[in-house]
Amino acid sequence: MVGGTPQRDASPAARTSSASPAGPAAEAPGALRVDRVSKSFRRHDGTEIPALSDISLDVEAGAFISVIGPSGCGKSTLLRLIAGLEQADAGELRLDGRLITAPHAERGLVFQNPLLFPWLNLHANVAFGLKARKIYRENKAEVEHFLHLVGLADFDRAYPHQLSGGMAQRAALARALINRPRLLLLDEPLGALDAFTRMNMQDEILRIRQDRNITMIMVTHDVDEALYLSDRVVVMTPGPAKIETVASVNLARPRARGGEDFLRLRSAVLKILNFGGQIKEPAYQI
Ligand SMILES: Nc1ncnc2c1ncn2[C@@H]1O[C@H](COP(=O)(O)OP(=O)(O)OP(=O)(O)O)[C@@H](O)[C@H]1O
Ligand SMILES: [Mg+2]
Repeated sequence: MVGGTPQRDASPAARTSSASPAGPAAEAPGALRVDRVSKSFRRHDGTEIPALSDISLDVEAGAFISVIGPSGCGKSTLLRLIAGLEQADAGELRLDGRLITAPHAERGLVFQNPLLFPWLNLHANVAFGLKARKIYRENKAEVEHFLHLVGLADFDRAYPHQLSGGMAQRAALARALINRPRLLLLDEPLGALDAFTRMNMQDEILRIRQDRNITMIMVTHDVDEALYLSDRVVVMTPGPAKIETVASVNLARPRARGGEDFLRLRSAVLKILNFGGQIKEPAYQI
């Protein structure tokens, strides 16, 4: 589909891949399967907050998927489950067929806030994962390689407070990439950046993806960003989160942000998110 209305996947398991789960794509490096996953959290008073309900998603190796949906609908929870930082109450998650039960270097996670260690310079920040895995000595050159990849080769001795927001976020990307993840999870990584830096970083992410062929799943609140970067956009609904739609973005790359097909698709996704132009009753009164 080029431009036009996004495809709504009505199947209970909103597959984002046309490949069969048992087929070659599922076995290629970086193929993710989320199968009927539910997750609740317990409040202090003992009541349950259902966060995700029966979520199914197949992502083929090398795909770029964006996840978009209202605040609090469970997007970060989904990424944390894939990262292995949370355990599902029901269902299972697999990367390349192997069950996800705990965090692993094969699954990198980058947050909105770069979370660099302020007492370490950039070289040491990026080297951190290698040192933790006790493989720094033989892989020291990798640190320079990844700092170069994100355009920070000349800043290896700089400390986080000496960096701009975009530079800090690029350093966070290098720190995740050095573990050579097969899957990179991005939780609103560009949310704190100004519009121009953000667009440059989007191109940076696309370049890294092309260079390394990593599967990427990115949470964003920005429809333009999702459409510029992704092969598919997963739209989630709140309370507890379900997948409302999987929109295929079959636009040629590099994409023109103001192109006719792009704008048509943008308008269709905004409509699904209920920002189609109709004025609604406010959800609450001030
Ligand atoms: N550790 C936790 N303990 C209790 N409740 C939690 C926890 N983590 C998430 N939740 C709840 O689960 C729901 C989903 O949260 P989540 O952070 O996944 O939303 P989100 O879609 O990422 O929101 P946002 O767009 O604002 O980042 C929310 O109701 C939240 O309060
Ligand atoms: Mg979140």
